[in-house]
Amino acid sequence: MAMAMAMASKLLLVLALLVAASTTEAKIPKRTNIQFYMHDIVGGPKPTAVRVAGRPGNFSSPDPIAAMFGSIFVMDNPLTVSPDPNSTVIGRAQGIYAMSSQKDEFSLLMTLTYEFISGRHNGSSFSVVGRNPVMREVREMPIVGGTGVFRLARGYCFARTYSMEQINAVIGYNVTVLHD
Ligand SMILES: *[C@@H]1O[C@H](CO)[C@@H](O)[C@H](O)[C@H]1NC(C)=O
Ligand SMILES: *[C@@H]1O[C@H](CO)[C@@H](O)[C@H](O)[C@H]1NC(C)=O
Ligand SMILES: *[C@@H]1O[C@H](CO)[C@@H](O)[C@H](O)[C@H]1NC(C)=O
Ligand SMILES: *[C@@H]1O[C@H](CO)[C@@H](O)[C@H](O)[C@H]1NC(C)=O
Repeated sequence: MAMAMAMASKLLLVLALLVAASTTEAKIPKRTNIQFYMHDIVGGPKPTAVRVAGRPGNFSSPDPIAAMFGSIFVMDNPLTVSPDPNSTVIGRAQGIYAMSSQKDEFSLLMTLTYEFISGRHNGSSFSVVGRNPVMREVREMPIVGGTGVFRLARGYCFARTYSMEQINAVIGYNVTVLHD
């Protein structure tokens, strides 16, 4: 009799746990797709990306990949709705990138936050950490987090160079974010 009661109370406990588990089931994340253009101005009187550390050498050195290896840049690049730099600015990409390949191809480690300052996502941001082999036609970088509407973000961006003038570039972004 005592044993039967102990078993019954164990059964009740298991049932209670099952009910508790089913009420905390995961929310389905929202999925947002965003497209914009980033303006990376390294040369000229008003650069948006500046080299803050590195060894002597530059992009015109005989072996530019080796010469630029170890260089660190801080950037604050505008994000616009179209490739025209004078089109509406919807945000800014701010952070640090480092020249992280010694040979074969230029590759950067990107550590950036993309913050929106107008439009639907105003005040929200997502963050990117990843490898960016800049000379490739399409680069994919992971989204590792976010704020505001992009809280708990994960996702990926495709970056394509739209145009290049000397070392200044316009980069098209196609972003997919899963978020809270
Ligand atoms: C770039 O580096 C080369 C040597 O590799 C040097 O002759 C040239 O003056 C440098 N250019 C600039 C703008 O620093
Ligand atoms: C953007 O606007 C500036 C100042 O109004 C102008 O000098 C420049 O030519 C414009 N650029 C383009 C690509 O239209
Ligand atoms: C974006 O949000 C900021 C802060 O909440 C606000 O001051 C600003 O007016 C907003 N801008 C636009 C264009 O909605
Ligand atoms: C953007 O990426 C999504 C998938 O990630 C794809 O379905 C869509 O066609 C892409 N758009 C452009 C303009 O590349």
